[in-house]
Amino acid sequence: MALASAPMTDIRSLPVTAELIDYAVGHGSWPDDEVLTDLRAETRALGSPAGMQLGPDQGQLLTLLTRLVGARRAVEVGTFTGYSALCIARGLADDGTLLCCDVSEEWTALARRAWARAGVADRIELRLAPAVETLRALPADEPIDLVFIDADKTGYPDYWRELVPRVRPGGLLLADNVLWGGAIVDDGDESANAVALRAFNDLVATDDRVECVVLPAFDGLTIARKL
Ligand SMILES: C[S@@+](CC[C@H](N)C(=O)[O-])C[C@H]1O[C@@H](n2cnc3c(N)ncnc32)[C@H](O)[C@@H]1O
Repeated sequence: MALASAPMTDIRSLPVTAELIDYAVGHGSWPDDEVLTDLRAETRALGSPAGMQLGPDQGQLLTLLTRLVGARRAVEVGTFTGYSALCIARGLADDGTLLCCDVSEEWTALARRAWARAGVADRIELRLAPAVETLRALPADEPIDLVFIDADKTGYPDYWRELVPRVRPGGLLLADNVLWGGAIVDDGDESANAVALRAFNDLVATDDRVECVVLPAFDGLTIARKL
């Protein structure tokens, strides 16, 4: 009874330190190998954009979720230097493929090199164009098993609208950064990204085509299952 009335913060006392994350990653099935380690170092050399890269704990979760749904056809919106794409590609079924959407030739050049080194380049197709154009051009009759949205935050609602109808029942839609460093609950933050992410979160929560959880881990991860 005491637990039920306690504030959530009282029962969530896990301190997520860098040391703890390292420990957790080291006890997962897919700690960063040489390719992922080198990719992280190359991305760090880019300076501040490196902050966009997924952490290894979230990368492992992507691999696991991709395996859980037995994904043969996956789509990523926002590829950057290719870390999350590599984690998804490694979880695909043997004949699986991943379509990556991005606009940066420069950043995705690093991705292409890492994918080749990892031996998964033949299962990844990269399209360089505004993602909404790429998604609108996707056929309606080729069901997608897994989607990972991690591009410009103002585009999330459009990506959702394009992708939900194309995901098969039982397939997963994942969206990153949905708690936006906590700004999502800061009414004083009216930045375009925060406003767009609030609209996105409301859109997902009221969409009766999916069931979902918003995971308060990483920077907030939505995991939605198509009904
Ligand atoms: C947060 S990063 C993606 C990080 C990546 N998932 C990873 O694990 O490293 C966002 C990416 O979205 C791309 N992007 C931004 N606007 C876009 C758009 N309109 N269409 C497609 N990609 C876009 C950027 O070029 C950038 O590479």
